[in-house]
Amino acid sequence: FLDLDGTSTNIKIQPTMYGIFFEDINFAADGGLYAELIKNRSFEFDEPLTGWKQPNTKTLSPNLDSGFLTIITDKSKTNKNYARITVENDKNYLLENEGFRGIGLHQDENYDFTFNLENASGNISAVNASLIDEKGSVISSVSLMIKGQGWQKYNMVFRPSKTIEKAKLQIRFTGKGVVNMDMISLFPQDTWKGRKGGLRKDLVEKLYDLQPGFLRFPGGCIVEGRTLAERYQWKKTIGKVEDRENLINKWNNGFAHRLTPDYWQSFGFGFFEYFQLAEDLGAEPLPILSCGMACQFNTAELVKMEDLDPYVQDALDLIEFANGNSNTKWGKIRSEMGHPKPFNMKFIGVGNEQWGEDYIERYKVFEKAIHAKYPDIKIISGSGPSPDGEFFDYGWKELKKLNAQIVDEHYYNSPEWFFKNAGRYDDYDRSGPKVFAGEYAAQSVGVVKPDNKNNWLTALSEAAFMTGLERNADVVTMTSYAPLFAHAEGWQWTPDLIWFNNLKSYATPNYYVQQLFSNNKGTDLLTISKNGKPLKGENNLFASAVLDLKKGEIIIKIVNSDPKETSVEINPKNIKIGSQLTKIVLTSSELTDENNFQSETIKPKEEIQTIKIGKILVDIPANSLVILKIK
Ligand code: AHR
Repeated sequence: FLDLDGTSTNIKIQPTMYGIFFEDINFAADGGLYAELIKNRSFEFDEPLTGWKQPNTKTLSPNLDSGFLTIITDKSKTNKNYARITVENDKNYLLENEGFRGIGLHQDENYDFTFNLENASGNISAVNASLIDEKGSVISSVSLMIKGQGWQKYNMVFRPSKTIEKAKLQIRFTGKGVVNMDMISLFPQDTWKGRKGGLRKDLVEKLYDLQPGFLRFPGGCIVEGRTLAERYQWKKTIGKVEDRENLINKWNNGFAHRLTPDYWQSFGFGFFEYFQLAEDLGAEPLPILSCGMACQFNTAELVKMEDLDPYVQDALDLIEFANGNSNTKWGKIRSEMGHPKPFNMKFIGVGNEQWGEDYIERYKVFEKAIHAKYPDIKIISGSGPSPDGEFFDYGWKELKKLNAQIVDEHYYNSPEWFFKNAGRYDDYDRSGPKVFAGEYAAQSVGVVKPDNKNNWLTALSEAAFMTGLERNADVVTMTSYAPLFAHAEGWQWTPDLIWFNNLKSYATPNYYVQQLFSNNKGTDLLTISKNGKPLKGENNLFASAVLDLKKGEIIIKIVNSDPKETSVEINPKNIKIGSQLTKIVLTSSELTDENNFQSETIKPKEEIQTIKIGKILVDIPANSLVILKIK
């Protein structure tokens, strides 16, 4: 028997309770959500020909009369490099791009092919481009006459005759001479909301279906960088896409077991686009900025206190960029980028996963400056990488003294830890800062182990833990699983919420757990208990309950982590119960089961039942998450 008490707890479930953590790790942005299909489109990587090949050049075929490419660099520009291509024999010269682990193309869809070209000398009259399949057969081709002098932008449209996961782009020329080329780009026209140069639709749709309360960006350690020079600087990610300075990704060669030496950030998906995405998703934008500390797992480089000002100014300017009107310096830039209306940003994060005295010292300066100018902005502060240990305790102690508003906790741990910690927040100080469980995920093998799986056990343990987050919604006001995305052939970290390749994506069981909680978050917390005690693992049962005042629904979430089915009878007290029960079940026969590209076998199944007045008797399958919605 479970008791459901309708007496008000006076605890509101915050609209931000379940959100999204986005970081460009695992090819999440370049090679993933950002739909650009050409890798290193403007030759900016440290090795400027990464991603490009000239199969017939003299180095490869010494006896062949062909052509060659040199990189011209202008250090005064943000987009420093371009390619100078000398064609000596147009039958033989060929330039090829491999994409991000190949180029994914869908049959009979349109792709915008664009580039900037300057006709430098000689008689090159046309550019001929093709998309080829894995066997080298052409699946679409276009030709374009070169016009005029000086740099010009060219546009063409490909329409592939086949669906190919790993196509290549080939460029040839007509005539002999020299051309300069830059920003060679290929985008599907069918992007999210049809935006030119936009985002991959299937991936944004998966985010949309989560109904996230917030979008945290741009990470993660990527905020901090391996060195201060490599930190994420939002001002370099706005304005014209071709002027955004590329930067090596912090996850380039992230871990020895997953070498990805070709991982850079083009910033085509930059801060404006993050805000725009948050708006599209109906989520609060939550940017996290560098606090002057490089990743403490890398160089741990520190900016001196007397040199911290520009970092703080970045935070103040960002608030103006998001919220200022078009007469302000940064609001004007946002407006000119196509969004005159402010984004109404309410939260900002200071530092990602920093700890120790160095962090607290810097946090204080940010807090003072931000709140002096923007008292209503809520600041997220960090508590380090792990919920256990002296750094964490020190951070919390100091942040409490400073009346911090929201503290970000990160935990990657075993499924057992998640089951055991369903009561983690029961004893948190109700008068202290609120908690943002900003990164968490159960690790099937161990933290940062390459064999970690998104199996049903990990998802079930997260569901059990999440009933504890929800039961403590007065303290825990924001939560997000991490990381969000992973390219099946370009990842550095596992497990991840959504896996994709160049054509498709699939949702993990962990995704469906997130979705069931988020889509059923309700508005007000109720009490569900057994013998007066919360359900946090006794007899392998976990539960939480909410009321959704907008929908007029009671929502109960129950996790059974027992290998046997059980049945529960719910006794409603002090609350009117309707007669329609919707039961949604997420389960799988084996704890080791996973979803994959071929099938999502672990997916919510819904049934509607009529219940007798006042009596709710339900079966809870073995190892399952069950959502009961009563109207
Ligand atoms: O989510 C992967 C990484 O884990 C994040 O970048 C970092 O914040 C944490 O250590």
